[in-house]
This record gives sequence, structure tokens and C-alpha cells, in this order.
Amino acid sequence: MSVNEINDKIREAAKVAAQYHTDNVGAPAATRLEWPVAVSVNKGLEGAIACETKIGYVDGVNGRLVYRGHDSFELSEHSNFEETSYLLLYGKMPNAAEYKAFDEKLKGYRKLPHEIYDALKLGAVKTAHPMTSLYITTGMLGALDQKSEDVSWQNQEEIAIRLISRISTLVGEIARLRKGLEPVEPDLSLGHAANLVYMMTGSKPDEATTKLMDIALILHADHGMNASTFTAMVANSSLSDMYSSVVAGITSLKGSLHGGANEKVLYDLEEIGTPDKAEEWFKKAREEKRKVMGFGHRVYKAYDPRARIFGPLVEFMARRNPEINNLYSIAKKLDAIICEQFGKEKKIFPNVDFYSGLIYRGMGIETAMFTPIFAASRISGWTARILEYLKENRLFRPRAVYTGETKAEYIPIDKR
Ligand code: SDX
Repeated sequence: MSVNEINDKIREAAKVAAQYHTDNVGAPAATRLEWPVAVSVNKGLEGAIACETKIGYVDGVNGRLVYRGHDSFELSEHSNFEETSYLLLYGKMPNAAEYKAFDEKLKGYRKLPHEIYDALKLGAVKTAHPMTSLYITTGMLGALDQKSEDVSWQNQEEIAIRLISRISTLVGEIARLRKGLEPVEPDLSLGHAANLVYMMTGSKPDEATTKLMDIALILHADHGMNASTFTAMVANSSLSDMYSSVVAGITSLKGSLHGGANEKVLYDLEEIGTPDKAEEWFKKAREEKRKVMGFGHRVYKAYDPRARIFGPLVEFMARRNPEINNLYSIAKKLDAIICEQFGKEKKIFPNVDFYSGLIYRGMGIETAMFTPIFAASRISGWTARILEYLKENRLFRPRAVYTGETKAEYIPIDKR
């Protein structure tokens, strides 16, 4: 077949397509396909509904967060990450036997395949942003799993549990390698939260620190159709595999308008330096039309309930740590200024990312690791929602309103 013959075929196909177009225009209105479609466009898909869910509810008006009917305040007080993950995945609180079996499964998966350590030690993986190291190594977990391409619900469920366990181990190892330390084996005698702190800091946490990490993991676990959850679900809706979909979620969480804000908040607080500079710093940020990290939310038009919990917990840490005490005083000042100036008028309040980093800093964790901790928690929400949607899967495929040229003519390059 020559190039001319190929081009003849294209011209013939164009003629057939043009005939179809004429038929469509002449068809009765009820069957005619119109373009552009009559729609209203909300930037950032504001107000769009992606699906139905029974997993979690964000009440943005009253500042309430619910997982499977359970209020996040109640879960923070009584639950732990393992139990909350079970609740998100299976829709009910586990009984003692179910909890034990789930916990054993998570622990059974905690250690990483040895090949992962080769990847973690690669120069670029070690020095990249830890969220980049996390999605590279999460992808590699998929590459090492011979059953990763089996997209049956049962297999995806098993991978979900494996990833809930192993993302934390990856985060722990990435934290160590960034500090130039040797990897450490996860400690199977510790609960999920305590093991994460142990791996990241090198010391076994006391009861209060374990509880604080559990609260952080519970409160970040799920949050409606946030950008990373939606990204992960869109990826999985094409029947891609669970590892790939979670990688997609991590890439979306990384950005500073989403999970990446917790890291940026700390840099801002450090830049402000002392509480008396907060007002001036905020004035300058407004003049430069900068978004203040850790404030504002698409859904909450009230104070984020998670920030309501984290704020007082940081105060508790501040009492025993002078560095946190100073950063917390700056944060409180900024909180008061922004709520006063933006709260009533624009409904801008602190969000989850404003105080969470101070909790991690109080544990001695490096600032760049804050967003990976978010991922180690949100993995439960990502996988629970992927599995829920997979039961009655349909490809996500919205449209864009085309506002460009429709009749442009192809002119050969030497005639342009
Ligand atoms: C998370 O969706 C989730 O649930 C996410 C999350 C989860 O758990 O998954 O809760 C986690 O991602 C928390 C958000 C972390 N990001 C930040 O803290 C970054 C700073 N915040 C923003 O940029 C902003 O508030 C967003 C991104 C969180 C929400 O953006 P929207 O809904 O698109 O709102 P917008 O940017 O269009 O702002 C609306 C107005 C604008 O003013 P006007 O042009 O109408 O006058 O509010 C202003 C904005 O300028 N505004 C801010 C602001 N947030 C909104 N102004 C200054 N500083 C801010 N932080």
C-alpha cells in the first residue's frame, strides 16, 4: 500500500463522515445529536456530583465529618487507624474476631519485598520529593505483584489491604533514607500508628504520641470526593489496576492546593518567625494575591472539624516543646487574623492542613514527610471508595465545552 492510497482511504472516510453529519442535521429533533451541548460549566467541577456513596459525608455547612455514620470526633476519641480502615472498607465496625483477623492481615503485609530497597536506595528516589519517591515505589509494588493485573473485586480488595499496610512502611523507609539512615524492619509488635512513628523517628513512641498519630491517621483517612480520591477513582474506572490507581491518587495529593499544603504551612510559619509579624505577613500575602496555605476549602464554609481537633492538640504539645510553642503562637495569631478578616465575609477558615504539620513536627518528623503521612492515611479512603465504585463500575468520562475554531483548513508548511 502506498502513501497516496492511504490518503485516498482517509478522503473516502471523510466523505462518509460528512454524509453522516448531513443525515444527523436533517434528523428529527428528538434523535439529533447537537453540539455544543447546552450545559453550564463550573470551574473545577464545583457542585458536580460524581457518584453515590455510603462511605463518608462532609457536612460543609455545619463543619461535620462522618465515616459510615460515625462522627469523626467520636472516632478520634475511641478508635484507631486499623479499626477505622475496616469501617471504611466494610461499612461496619469489626467485632473482636474480625478486628484480630484484619490486624493480623495488615501486620502480615507490613514488610516490603526486598527489591523495593534497591529502588529506595537509588540516588534519584532518595533525593526526590518524598511524594515522588512514594509513587515510584508504590508503582514498583505493583510491578512486583504477579497478580496486579487481576482486576476482579476480590483481588483488588486484597491489594487494598496490602497497600493500607505497606504505604506506611514505604513512608517510614523513605523518611529514614532521606536522613541518610539505614532502612529499619517494621516492628510487628506495634500497632499501625506506633510502627509508623517508630520507623520515621527511630524510637518507639509513648502512649500519648501513638494516640496523636492514630488521631491524625483517622482524621485524614477519607474526605468525600476530594481531588486525589476522584483521581484514583477515575484511574480505576477504566479497569486499571489498584496499584496504578493509588499511584494516581498520590500524584494528585502531592499538590499544594491539596495535601501538599501541610508542608507549605510549616514553611510559612517559619518565614513569619514570631507572632507579632503575622499581621504584616498576611497583609503582604493579600497584596500579592497569594493563597494562604492551610486556609479555605471547596466544601467547608465553616471551621474544618479536623482543624478543631488538631489545634488544641498542638497546644498540648506546645506546652512541652518551646519550638512548637513559638510556631503554635504564630499559627494561632494567623488563625485569628484570617477568621476575623475572611471568616464572615468569604467563609475562609483553617482546614485540616493548617495544624496537622505542627503535630508531626512535635514528633520530630521532617517537614517534607508531612504529605506522605497524609497518603499513609488516605490510602484507606482511596481504596474503600475504589472498591465501592468497582461494584457497579462505569467509566468516568465527562466532557469539556469546546470554545475553539471548528473549520480550520490544513495549509502545507511551506505556504503558512
Ligand atoms: C485539602 O477537597 C478536600 O476535601 C480536600 C481535603 C481532603 O481531606 O481531602 O480537605 C484536604 O486539600 C485541604 C486544602 C488544602 N489546600 C490549601 O490549604 C491551599 C490554600 N487553599 C486554597 O487555595 C483554596 O481554599 C482551596 C484550593 C482549598 C479551595 O479552592 P476553591 O474551592 O477552588 O476556591 P477558590 O480558590 O476559587 O477561592 C474562592 C475565593 C477566592 O476569592 P475571590 O476570587 O472569590 O475573591 O476564596 C479565596 C480566593 O481567592 N480563597 C483564598 C484562600 N482560599 C480561598 N484566599 C486566600 N487564601 C486562601 N487560602
